[in-house]
Amino acid sequence: MMFIQESVGFRKEDIERETATTKARYDRIAPIYDLMEWFIERLAFQDWRWELWSRVPVGRILEVGVGTGKNIPFYPKGAQVTAIDLSERMLARAQRRADEMNIEVDLRHMDVQDLEFPDDAFDAAVATFVFCSVPIAVQGLRELGRVVKPDGNIWLLEHVRVNRPVIGPLMDALNPIVVRVMGPNINRRTVENVKRAGLRVLQVENLKGELVKLIHAHS
Ligand SMILES: C[S@@+](CC[C@H](N)C(=O)[O-])C[C@H]1O[C@@H](n2cnc3c(N)ncnc32)[C@H](O)[C@@H]1O
Repeated sequence: MMFIQESVGFRKEDIERETATTKARYDRIAPIYDLMEWFIERLAFQDWRWELWSRVPVGRILEVGVGTGKNIPFYPKGAQVTAIDLSERMLARAQRRADEMNIEVDLRHMDVQDLEFPDDAFDAAVATFVFCSVPIAVQGLRELGRVVKPDGNIWLLEHVRVNRPVIGPLMDALNPIVVRVMGPNINRRTVENVKRAGLRVLQVENLKGELVKLIHAHS
């Protein structure tokens, strides 16, 4: 099986096949996703989510790859949030969380590589641990640049490939297995992809060595 990496110029059939595979993977792991991440969520992810969302001002916000809705408790009060995901089963869990917490969010089933929103529809966009899974990451990032108004903010929390002699190639070697079992790619060059998508990188903060980064960009 071919694992599409994050460059453009792929055949439509390949993109469609990889997108369908990604959707099927997340539909499959949706019932156990929160359990799988329970420990790391408490250990680190919650703090990083807070770190990101504390910077997002109230406005029209797009969250892509909402998953089971782990960011929902962090949405700024009074913000108008639209959140999308490729997997209906992940979305169903996000809806349940929003209902339980009585937080209003417009949840939609959509592919970030082909957003159904008009240009400049949002003030800001957020994604946490998403562009490791999007088949053509650059295409998804370009779409963020299109739907966020000019000079609007884009925040990404992502684990990335560590560009070091031994660990980088090791991550490349292990990647096909991790993708198949868990879903995400562990060797994405997301900062580079953000630049390739034509977004302007303002700040990149290392949250866990060089592995986890908080990226702030402008459309
Ligand atoms: C690792 S999970 C992260 C979920 C959530 N953001 C979090 O922080 O827990 C990745 C999510 O991205 C979604 N996803 C992957 N490719 C996507 C695409 N092309 N369009 C929209 N969502 C996508 C998956 O369905 C999954 O819910």
